[in-house]
Amino acid sequence: MEKYAVIGNPINHSLSPSMHNAAFRSEERDANYEAIQVSVEAFDAEIAHLLAGDFNGFNVTVPFKERIIPHLDELSPFAKRCGAVNTVIKADGKWLGDNTDGAGFMEGLHEIKVVTSEDRILIIGAGGASKAIYLALADASPQQLVIVNRTVEKAAAMVQKTHEAWSLAKAEKYLADFTIIIQTTSIGLPASKNETPIQLTNLQAGTVVVDIIYNPAETAFLKQAKTKGAVIQNGLPMFIGQGALAYQRWTGHMPNLEVMKKKLLEELGGQSSL
Ligand code: ATR
Repeated sequence: MEKYAVIGNPINHSLSPSMHNAAFRSEERDANYEAIQVSVEAFDAEIAHLLAGDFNGFNVTVPFKERIIPHLDELSPFAKRCGAVNTVIKADGKWLGDNTDGAGFMEGLHEIKVVTSEDRILIIGAGGASKAIYLALADASPQQLVIVNRTVEKAAAMVQKTHEAWSLAKAEKYLADFTIIIQTTSIGLPASKNETPIQLTNLQAGTVVVDIIYNPAETAFLKQAKTKGAVIQNGLPMFIGQGALAYQRWTGHMPNLEVMKKKLLEELGGQSSL
């Protein structure tokens, strides 16, 4: 039997095992995917032990996407640019690190929007989740690409020279100029479920607004954006996209996306704003 796992800490609420096992079962593949909590303190010893075992591949999540890198034999070009790995593949006895977060985000976004050279894009947040999304969007060569963050220096450190780093207040003021807005901060998760990172007063109807949070299915940010006539998407398409591309790296083919989506909606209690 093939063996896969997601490693993180905490990991008990991860929906990756349900999603991948549903896809494996749908094609009667002799494979299993589990969640493994790795200790933050003893990470190096525990990961070395897992990599020496009989696993075929891993997903890596918070807080280990950077720390896994020294344990791998090779990195894909995109993982190298991100400085972070979310997918580990065994190939010819070697461990290859890849990052499917950026391409997974783009797969999801393409359900509602194809990015063109006319687009003006605003990314809110400059944490780990933001970087892969930023790099994937930069590759689509939009007319304008701005990262805003509470700590502006973090956004400034992330952007390349043709792009901009702004304050949250500046984003609020010029919000009407953007065609696509992506919320990547942790604001809107249960701990801050009634908060939004910026005021949406100047948001124009028809703007594409994505929040990468999927539980809750509609953050306060997405609810307000919908009220203003935006075209909204939550984080489920990105989650499915990154998972599907990891599956493809391991097996050589894409999984059944509908099976994955159905399973996730079941797990999330049927709520969705896809
Ligand atoms: P992740 O890796 O999931 O992106 P992270 O690296 O901790 O998580 O980043 C969290 C993001 O949410 C950051 O952009 C953070 O802003 P700072 O860089 O200024 O810390 C943002 N964030 C978290 N809480 C926030 C708050 N109360 N107001 C504004 N931004 C917040």
